[in-house]
Amino acid sequence: MEKQIAVIRGDGIGPEIVEQALRVLDAVAEKFGHTFRYVDADMGGIAIDRWGEALPAAELEKCLASDSVLLGAVGGPKWDGMPGNKRPEKGLLALRSAMGLYSNNRPAKLWPQLAAASPLKPEIVEKGIDFIVVRELIGGVYFGEHRTEEADGELKATDVMSYSEHEIERIGRIAFETAGKRRKKVTSIDKANVLDTSRLWRRVMHRLASEYPDIEYSDMLVDNAAMQIAKDPSQFDVIVTENMFGDILSDEASMITGSIGMIPSSSLGEDSRGLYEPIHGSAPDIAGQDRANPIGTILSAAMMLKYSFDMDEEAEAIEKAVNQVLDEGLRTGDMMAEGSTPVSCSGMGDAVLKYI
Ligand code: IPM
Ligand code: MG
Repeated sequence: MEKQIAVIRGDGIGPEIVEQALRVLDAVAEKFGHTFRYVDADMGGIAIDRWGEALPAAELEKCLASDSVLLGAVGGPKWDGMPGNKRPEKGLLALRSAMGLYSNNRPAKLWPQLAAASPLKPEIVEKGIDFIVVRELIGGVYFGEHRTEEADGELKATDVMSYSEHEIERIGRIAFETAGKRRKKVTSIDKANVLDTSRLWRRVMHRLASEYPDIEYSDMLVDNAAMQIAKDPSQFDVIVTENMFGDILSDEASMITGSIGMIPSSSLGEDSRGLYEPIHGSAPDIAGQDRANPIGTILSAAMMLKYSFDMDEEAEAIEKAVNQVLDEGLRTGDMMAEGSTPVSCSGMGDAVLKYI
């Protein structure tokens, strides 16, 4: 097969981790007889520096014209002082929205080799951590009106959060369908004791739940969910939630698995084209030092093969290689534990390549 992949290296550690993922994709292409063509696109801080905006039209066009997009990370202190609508992150939000990627999938799965790196007690970790956060990605407060104005001699800021039924229903369906292929359990997370958006969310989810009688469904308030993820993560299979709750809970979910540097994600819409990125940020403190963990990006590339290109075997080859590298005891700084061998970002790439 021949596929065109738009590659957004981005800011901070973005370029280093993407480089390793591309090496792995090349090895897979060679082994399985595919051709991957890469088209570099600028987004985030680097695009602001080069073009004056976080997602210039020509760069977006490259993404829309490709079969999928692979992204490193965007943002950094250099652009922190910029107004909200000019920040690097705005480019990412605009890209998700322009591609119609309403469904963000973030697996929180414990790699047994990393159990000791989890901040949770062993008796909690032993019960297993294997769930997916299905996060609504192009609605809610992220995309409502943002405004700061003078009112009565002081500044007043407003962010509008809204959801329509169809936005809730389509993400709900993804959650139920996903659960159908897993342990058949959906937990919908909201703040229905306070928010109207959550009350509507719950109504639509309940309607859907009656369409999927073989799926065990429950609601959970977001504050309780934050607690339950730390207390007994084994109770979750598929979590479905709105944009901002999903942002927050998916960071918590990744942390309990040992390292946020390991977690990939997919963002999908109505067609097979997706955006694939690790869930961690641009880590400016270690950028350019060859110390970052490239595995989240490498596994994001594997998700791309599986979900956008239907290349299950190829994706599995990458996951297996990562597993072997962890078995070998190789660790980047973020997941170092006693008795393991430290490797650099490119060293980790070399190690994964060896097993492809
Ligand atoms: C994420 C990130 C982004 C988000 C930021 C960079 C805008 O935190 O992908 O989780 O909040 O969605
Ligand atoms: Mg986040």
